[in-house]
Amino acid sequence: MKIIMLGAPGAGKGTQAKMIASKYGIPHISTGDIFRANIKNGTELGNKAKTYMDKGELVPDELVVDLIMDRFKADDCVKGYVLDGFPRTIPQAEALDRALAANGEKVDFAINVDVPDENIVNRMSGRRACVNCGATYHIVFNAPKTADKCDHCGADLILRDDDKPETVLNRLDVYHKQTQPLIDYYDKAGIVRNIDGTQDMDKVFADITAILGD
Ligand code: AP5
Ligand code: MG
Repeated sequence: MKIIMLGAPGAGKGTQAKMIASKYGIPHISTGDIFRANIKNGTELGNKAKTYMDKGELVPDELVVDLIMDRFKADDCVKGYVLDGFPRTIPQAEALDRALAANGEKVDFAINVDVPDENIVNRMSGRRACVNCGATYHIVFNAPKTADKCDHCGADLILRDDDKPETVLNRLDVYHKQTQPLIDYYDKAGIVRNIDGTQDMDKVFADITAILGD
């Protein structure tokens, strides 16, 4: 099963993608997480990506497409995957379609997690991420058991650099201009499923599994 998560920054794509990956036994592939891991490790890719991410801009398509095509070669992708944060532009979506079509494959579902802009800034300022394993929390909606410590590995939780309100506003702007058109793109292929992302996390997940099946 090949699934794409669509939705604004902070809509809950990562939260739901992790739950989908665990239920269906497929990898969760987040381009944002891959870039953040590269930044942490000081790689050349990380240094390049950071200059864009810190401003809330998109990393250039060719960097992202090469990275994701490489990731698809891993053994864990044979049963499919849930893509979170990719594709994010029409050229990225076209590159993905071309690569899949070359093997007689296609995307099965584009899950659009719909949350209005008014809710987003609030969600982002409350998000905390583990510096070690990348687990995500929210100080109100999904609080860790011990303040500022990861439930899974005990490492510190931090506010992401790009979650400051001024950067979030630019990310939203970039989303509306460059990523939202993908909803139409996948609608034409008949694979978009719209989900109300303002509901609590478990209800959002129940709506998604009702679509994906058991
Ligand atoms: P990326 O890491 O993909 O960030 P994003 O799309 O902006 O999305 P977020 O991770 O911020 O939000 P999310 O939807 O995953 O929400 P989450 O589940 O955490 O990308 C970062 C940057 O990398 C980009 O700006 C760009 O520069 C670059 N990049 C990445 N991919 C790229 C690509 N393909 N092309 C070019 N550049 C690329 O939830 C948010 C918060 O809300 C959490 O605290 C969570 O606990 C809480 N929450 C979740 N669900 C609910 C709920 N139902 N109710 C209440 N709270 C909830
Ligand atoms: Mg995310």
